Amino acid sequence: MTPSPHPTARHIINPRLDKLPDYPFERLRGLLDPLAPPPGLEPISLSLGEPQHPYPDFVGEILHDNRHLYGKYPPVAGTPDFRDAVTEWLNRRFDLPGGMIDPDRHIAPCAGTREALFRTAFLAVPPEKAGKQPVVLMPNPFYQCYAGAAIAAGAEPVFVNALAENHFLPDFAGLDPAILARTALVYFCTPGNPQGAVADLAYLENLVALSRQYDFTLVVDECYAEIYDGDPPPGTLQTCTGNGELSGILVFHSLSKRSNVAGLRSGFVAGDADLIKLFRNLSEYGGNPSPLPVYAAATALWRDEAHVVANRALYVEKFDLAERILSNRFGFYRPKGGFFLWLDVGDGVAATKKLWRQGAVRVLPGSYLSADDPRGGNSGDPYIRVAMVFEHAVMADALTRMSEIL
Ligand SMILES: Cc1ncc(COP(=O)(O)O)c(C=O)c1O
Repeated sequence: MTPSPHPTARHIINPRLDKLPDYPFERLRGLLDPLAPPPGLEPISLSLGEPQHPYPDFVGEILHDNRHLYGKYPPVAGTPDFRDAVTEWLNRRFDLPGGMIDPDRHIAPCAGTREALFRTAFLAVPPEKAGKQPVVLMPNPFYQCYAGAAIAAGAEPVFVNALAENHFLPDFAGLDPAILARTALVYFCTPGNPQGAVADLAYLENLVALSRQYDFTLVVDECYAEIYDGDPPPGTLQTCTGNGELSGILVFHSLSKRSNVAGLRSGFVAGDADLIKLFRNLSEYGGNPSPLPVYAAATALWRDEAHVVANRALYVEKFDLAERILSNRFGFYRPKGGFFLWLDVGDGVAATKKLWRQGAVRVLPGSYLSADDPRGGNSGDPYIRVAMVFEHAVMADALTRMSEIL
């Protein structure tokens, strides 16, 4: 990611937004659109993390059965049934002590987690921290929303490398204490996008302790928590033993990846009651709650595990396939979670162009997801990100093309 002042942005009134670089997919279009893929090969786009597996039929049925509710403004707090379903799911999935999560105080729905993650910066970033401009920490590489939110909220984004040598987990505690003192908010993601690293409970406990020591809001994006290979990834709420322990913590979960309904736009945030109250209040002013039929479908999805188990098995089969085709090459490893391959191809931009020009396969250069190092270079330079989202046969075709071309 190269923050380049936007040349056409002179009319923008808020000068902070000049610091927002073009979004990676816009940059990818700029890179690949001038190049023609080979004629006769069906293009396969593995750049976007948009799940292509089917979602349960009952989603359509519930939306249809509840269509009379499209005429109503939906409540920002969701329906009681939605909050109950989500609370039951959290308790089941993370084995939380009963009663720790109060559905009325600790849960807020969101219309997809992206906007909610973005909005959180506006409730967590004060004008100053330790007498200076606040800092928002995030891993590097990172989900782009975090950096956009930090910049839009007036904070300085600080990117903390998550490299192979630290198992793709950022060492937040190792930062200069002066930076930590200015930190108002930390975005962390487990399982991580793009590398699929999973933080263990000890890592999460240390991060929670750091948030208390330096008094920052800890946001943990757990939207890939249900896509894993092996043991279920732990969740940050597992570090909390009672209501008081939730203070300063927000976790985000989404149906987009769990249930393959990215277009339904439904997720939720759970955690600190005061922050949830503020979050809901901000929603009242400028949020866009999901329609009531969507809450009904989402409620049923959180209560159903069968489709999630089947979905996970499809990803595991595809990682078996990738291992057969790519193992011992490009630094291949099986990610513990999520559905991306993060391949070390030497020069990610050159490989992306080559794959498109010679194989009609679209991937994303790792550097488009990583911030430039202030000392030069970009830790994402050697990598490409490959979204394993299509069905088995399409992925087999794409991975074979990739293996032959690279
Ligand atoms: C790490 C991460 N967080 C959050 C999201 C947002 O998902 P949604 O807004 O669909 O819930 C995505 C989507 O790609 C993601 O990769």
